[in-house]
Amino acid sequence: MIWSIAPEQASTQAEAFDRIFAMMTGFSLFVVALVGALIFVFSLLFRAKRGTPRRSVKALQNRQIEVFWTAVTAFFAIFFFWYTSTASLDAIEAPAGAMEYHVEAKQWMWKTRHPSGARELNAMHVPVGRPVTVFLNSQDVIHSFYVPAFRIKQDVVPGRTSTVWFEATKPGTYRLFCAEFCGTDHAKMTGRVVAMAPGDYARWLETRAEGETLAATGARLFVSAGCAGCHEEGSDVHAPSLAGLFGREIPLADGRQVTADADYLRDSILLPGRDIAAGYEPIMPNFSGMLEDGEVEALVAYIRTLSEEEASR
Ligand code: CUA
Repeated sequence: MIWSIAPEQASTQAEAFDRIFAMMTGFSLFVVALVGALIFVFSLLFRAKRGTPRRSVKALQNRQIEVFWTAVTAFFAIFFFWYTSTASLDAIEAPAGAMEYHVEAKQWMWKTRHPSGARELNAMHVPVGRPVTVFLNSQDVIHSFYVPAFRIKQDVVPGRTSTVWFEATKPGTYRLFCAEFCGTDHAKMTGRVVAMAPGDYARWLETRAEGETLAATGARLFVSAGCAGCHEEGSDVHAPSLAGLFGREIPLADGRQVTADADYLRDSILLPGRDIAAGYEPIMPNFSGMLEDGEVEALVAYIRTLSEEEASR
């Protein structure tokens, strides 16, 4: 740890993050000190002495010095860009096989759903040494999922699914904050991430009521909300089949191509008239206002499993 004011490092990304932070801060302090010292020294050395005619001082012009400091500054700028961008790109994509947690943010709480379906409020138990992807959704306004000990912070924007991933490196309880002002009780929108040894986590999970997984909730909704009536195989209605849809490139009626990702599926449910798949009529009813909070995410999770089944066949 560089400074004792920094929170402890408890994820695989924390060290790289702190190294970048220390490097940038150190470099900035060096430049501030250098410029400050030069101002001080030069103002003593070159101060206008009594009786010195000011106009007689000629401005310094030296091409070599100009080229030198432009090149040095450009070098540092490019170096910092390369160094930070390669490190942060690694932080974007979760490794394959990461555990999938779903977290719903709302004023003013965090609702967690484990891969097993178990649920928690303002808490998130995870095993140490396993990568964890967190799918984030907001039910109302913008929140921000922030775990300082893991050095992760991700805005949670209503109307879209954001993801962030981490791998806890040591058991412990770490604070979770909302880092985006979201209303009266923003400051109270806190929680904890409890990292446990894998065995302890398995035992903890056994004590929890088996919940329905998000995809299972979605499968139930798919029938009860009426999606199955048109999208199920053998339906009389000419509606696209959803098996294997997730992640595929879809040609649209107006000639554009879109990827059927979580945002596309959400838009198709809530704004069905916007992106019509090629070869289909715009007959799907609008479900905005008919689905409750979190139900769109459940449907999207279910539709995603349809593609995973397809792929594993
Ligand atoms: Cu949620 Cu601030």
